[in-house]
Amino acid sequence: MYKLNEKVNRKNTSSLKWDGMQPAFGSNELLPMWVADMDFSPPTPVIDAIKERVDHGVFGYTIANGKTAEAIIQWTAKRHGWEIQPEWILYSPGVVPSIGMAIQAFTDVGDKVLLQSPVYTPFFNMITNNMREVVNSPLKLVDGHYEIDFADFEEKLKSGVKLFLLCSPHNPGGRVWRKQELIKIAELCKQYGVKIAADEIHADVIFAPHTHLPLASIDPSYMDFVATFMAPSKTFNLAGLQASFMVVPNKELRKKLMAIQQMQGLTSLNTFGMIAMEAAYSHGEQWLEDCIAYIQENIDLIKKEIAHSLPDLEVMIPEGSYLVWIDCRKTGLNDEELREALLKKAKLAVNFGHSYGKGGEGFIRINPACHRSIVEEGLERLKIAFGN
Ligand SMILES: Cc1ncc(COP(=O)(O)O)c(C=O)c1O
Repeated sequence: MYKLNEKVNRKNTSSLKWDGMQPAFGSNELLPMWVADMDFSPPTPVIDAIKERVDHGVFGYTIANGKTAEAIIQWTAKRHGWEIQPEWILYSPGVVPSIGMAIQAFTDVGDKVLLQSPVYTPFFNMITNNMREVVNSPLKLVDGHYEIDFADFEEKLKSGVKLFLLCSPHNPGGRVWRKQELIKIAELCKQYGVKIAADEIHADVIFAPHTHLPLASIDPSYMDFVATFMAPSKTFNLAGLQASFMVVPNKELRKKLMAIQQMQGLTSLNTFGMIAMEAAYSHGEQWLEDCIAYIQENIDLIKKEIAHSLPDLEVMIPEGSYLVWIDCRKTGLNDEELREALLKKAKLAVNFGHSYGKGGEGFIRINPACHRSIVEEGLERLKIAFGN
């Protein structure tokens, strides 16, 4: 199983997850189960390709050539059944920067941008940092999973929203939106003339029997108002290499995004990000399958152990993404007390739900994309935090 079961020491590597706890939580002496990256080495062909490029020894300007686009095209066709054209692809250092560019390209200062909380925190920040207004249509918690309140969603669309930020699969809830839900979202946005920025960064880590469906691929008419953002960063644990791409079939939307890229001088990929992206999409699929199987076992362990020992916690099993969202409301602890129990008493670093917006209060998010022994230790620490 490649090196998935090998423990890699990430301390003192400028790792946000391992070395960034001091600024975030006041101590680096915590078990890090927060930031959404994996503790695993990426597929060996990725490391080999980077090494080969290092050995070449000259690191001048890079152009993403046909090989990069070809690797992306083959991957999206094989994994997601979506045939994309090379000219639809724009490169970006990350999906968060792409969201910022979409906000700038498709809306004006003061415009309304819709999201669905609880959701990945930077969705809020990118709207407000760009001086637009956040409009929220909170998700409904139904039988332990999130659903869209379509009546509210439509009301919000009607209120003059210009852009909708979709998180698919959903972070933090791990929901893989069903085809009928995606169609309803797209049809409503089409009806009210609202563009969609579809953040599909978690599209590749999907647990059976679920299937991710790129929103724009469902109907040719959706391609006219949907820009899709994907990346190998979550999939192959390459976030530090800052390489992602946008798929924008509509020429007008693409022109608008390219104008923003040019305003910022952000049109090319980092050399190593590009090399890694090509190698991962071309040779990383077996690694990914093994990785998903390993993470699935970690999630199964979390589910079993919490059900057995911590009945006040309720685990939302992810259908996609490798994040586990846990409802701690039955413990009766408020957000401050949750922080105290987890950070101070148990010395466990997690993401706290209130930062994901309305509906996130009383939840925590933990990251099981790590060595099994860390999951086991994390479970022990949860018992320290919440046990009697
Ligand atoms: C939904 C979502 N979008 C974007 C990102 C980050 O994207 P990037 O590192 O490419 O900016 C994350 C990381 O956790 C995420 O969960």
